Amino acid sequence: MLIDGKKVADQIKQEIAEEVNRIVAAGGKRPHLAAILVGHDGGSETYVGHKVKACEQCGFTSTLIRFEDDCTEAQLLESIASLNNDPDVDGFIVQLPLPAHIDEQRVIEAIDPRKDVDGFHPVNVGRMSIGLPCFVSATPAGIMQLLERYEIPTKGKRCVILGRSNIVGKPMATLMMQKHQPGDATVTVVHSHSNDIPAICREADILIAAMGRPGTVTADMVKDGATVIDVGTTRVPDPSRKSGFRLSGDVDFAAVEPKCSFITPVPGGVGPMTIVSLMRNTLLAAKGAVYPKN
Ligand code: GUN
Repeated sequence: MLIDGKKVADQIKQEIAEEVNRIVAAGGKRPHLAAILVGHDGGSETYVGHKVKACEQCGFTSTLIRFEDDCTEAQLLESIASLNNDPDVDGFIVQLPLPAHIDEQRVIEAIDPRKDVDGFHPVNVGRMSIGLPCFVSATPAGIMQLLERYEIPTKGKRCVILGRSNIVGKPMATLMMQKHQPGDATVTVVHSHSNDIPAICREADILIAAMGRPGTVTADMVKDGATVIDVGTTRVPDPSRKSGFRLSGDVDFAAVEPKCSFITPVPGGVGPMTIVSLMRNTLLAAKGAVYPKN
């Protein structure tokens, strides 16, 4: 069965918009998300564009702050400090990756954890790892929503995650082993130094592919009846498209799909859920639901 991330994301945006209407009708403040975008990377431009559009659909205020590639780290840190101190801004993100001359970790740690709706600050990562209220990074949070809304059993299941990035693989592993559903799974994380990856993948009831290498997961790596979640979004040249490229997942979809009980397509699977998770986090920030406002 196809997991329709676009449909679920539209539904959640609708739910958020209704809640925002209620808040504003009761005299409350409209949630406000800001984004900092450095340079003109095509993928980042697209993602940030989607985030701004999603803000409109949810009834949020959005602010986009742009810097050129040659901006200094100090300029960026100054902008972050001003967003930290702006009482109207509930949450903000700095779109990654950043140019090589900027220390990404220093930038992330400059964000007030109470406004870190990307969930990248070590305070949020640490709180998630011990099961405390926090902002969960958007892609893993979106995948958990899909598992929940499609009622895919996770308790006691074998979950294999391909990739160990800070923004997908690692938090995904943490969430899948959390002490409630969706979660309670037995988790294995495989990466570039793992031995016999196909054999490990074949044990998976839930296989989550997040390496960013098109077509890596082939049919021989998937157990009959498995759930396959494809996080890949690599731009592959495609002259037949107006844009000149198409998005490719990490899974050989045509070959793998017949073996699965559930599978996410690319595009239209995890991608729209990532954006909507950021909207959810922003609403939570605005309501002071994670870190109470003083
Ligand atoms: N780059 C790739 N994914 C993300 C994300 O979720 N948030 C930010 N800020 N940058 C990204």
